[in-house]
Amino acid sequence: MTKENKSKITKICCIGAGYVGGPTMVVFADKCPHINFYVVDINEKKIEAWNQDDLKKLPVYEPGLDQLVKKCRGNNLFFSSDIENNIANSDMIFISVNTPTKTRGIGAGKASNLMYVEKCARQVAMYAKNHTIVVEKSTLPVRTAEVIKTILEEAQDSIQNNPNKPTFDVLSNPEFLSEGSAIKDLNVPDRVLIGGESEEAINKLCEIYKNWVPEVKILRTNIWSSELAKLTANAFLAQRISSINSIAALCESTGADIREVSRAIGTDNRIGSKFLDSGPGFGGSCFKKDILNLVYLSKHFGLPEVAAFWESVVEMNSWHQHRISKLIVQKLFGTITGKKIAILGFAFKANTNDTRESAAIQICKDLLEEGANLIIHDPIVDENQIKIDLKTSNNNQKTNLQFSNSWSFTNSLDNVFIEAHAVVILTEWSEYSNIDWVNIAKMMKKPGWVFDSRLIVNSKKVLEANLKLWRIGDGT
Ligand code: NAD
Ligand code: UDX
Repeated sequence: MTKENKSKITKICCIGAGYVGGPTMVVFADKCPHINFYVVDINEKKIEAWNQDDLKKLPVYEPGLDQLVKKCRGNNLFFSSDIENNIANSDMIFISVNTPTKTRGIGAGKASNLMYVEKCARQVAMYAKNHTIVVEKSTLPVRTAEVIKTILEEAQDSIQNNPNKPTFDVLSNPEFLSEGSAIKDLNVPDRVLIGGESEEAINKLCEIYKNWVPEVKILRTNIWSSELAKLTANAFLAQRISSINSIAALCESTGADIREVSRAIGTDNRIGSKFLDSGPGFGGSCFKKDILNLVYLSKHFGLPEVAAFWESVVEMNSWHQHRISKLIVQKLFGTITGKKIAILGFAFKANTNDTRESAAIQICKDLLEEGANLIIHDPIVDENQIKIDLKTSNNNQKTNLQFSNSWSFTNSLDNVFIEAHAVVILTEWSEYSNIDWVNIAKMMKKPGWVFDSRLIVNSKKVLEANLKLWRIGDGT
């Protein structure tokens, strides 16, 4: 498939201007001023948002992102809806579109829906000219590169008498950034992984990264290892969180403290101290989706035991979230009907406006189901997003109406606590660590409860304010 092509990469197109495509290309543009970057998306509103003057309204919130957009946009970084021309004019194309879990058909609930990736491949096949390196940035099931290659090859065969008949190389270059620290992660990655067959194409992508990443950190693998390594990394990280959350439950029953247990095991070099914070269960767009994908692949390749092992990580996470909702109800005398409960934080973690798979969604739904009145605070998340998230998936109009009348949203902490029976902390926003509990207690109903699922409040101050306190994993 490769055609000898020694020319340098000067134009790069990224298809998909989301949480990965946007920040990744912003950092690439900052690090490679000699290359022009074109980020395209079918969602015209998103492109408009990336292009607007008010940098506070970019579609993605990430610390440091706005300043880099200001520096590069209009110089060597362009956000555009012109997919056709930007594909045609680029030497390298990153596919960074969404790969959600399938909701229907074969593999529903587990397998990745590759329709967006396939559409991209078809767009590239149709519009590319000359030699183009296609880079999988999206997280994909093992052997997806084969599908992309087939689509590109078939399209080549159908282009007749075209002097610009394109040729392609396909590489896998999965992204490991975490939301909330994406700019740092992209600037100083632990490693860059490039899988592929063509040495020349791999070298070209390496040359781009070498502008700021030391060569020793650039790992070259075969394409299937690269695809599988991405799924495996997310599965291992999520597994640590389910493991520590399972032990948190045991701590609560035995008088142990999860922070002490985490510290004690984390000092073991072989275990390491990162990703041992107990919380309300992992959220985010990747962990659940990628593990379920692994589960599907394992079953597909005849390994049901492997599938069951990984599926249990997701089951533990779901059990853990329901466990938190249940104990809130129990502590509030077994009923929360008509009670006002303040929810602090809706994002799946701090420093992002992303709510996908946030633990707050399930926990709020559980509490609404029990009849609570919620006042939800988040400093960054958009109220409309919460509206979408709190709709029941079965589209039951009566339940949805009932839910929508039972919660309200605010991005200011001023009125959140008045007459509240309980405060539930679900995201570790720094402003929640400095709450004046003595003052807050005066506004709340008695006995007032604080449920800290992120271990961020000062327990002494909460107790001194005569509030009752539950903390995750704290059995002391
Ligand atoms: P996203 O939903 O934020 O963005 C995807 C974008 O692709 C959307 O704006 C959508 O409109 C656009 N798109 C879809 N089909 C298109 C097409 N045919 N042409 C043009 N645009 C199209 O998703 P994301 O969070 O950026 O994730 C993208 C991929 O990266 C996924 O595979 C995900 O698993 C992976 N990933 C995500 C993260 C993360 O932290 N979010 C980290 C690593 C990897
Ligand atoms: C994850 C991976 O970390 C990243 O490498 C991959 O590219 C995308 O998926 P992300 O989902 O953005 O990144 O955030 P991450 O920091 O991994 O947190 C995921 C969830 O786990 C969050 O809900 C977070 O609150 C939770 N978490 C994380 C814990 O509960 N405890 C921890 O110790 C760490």
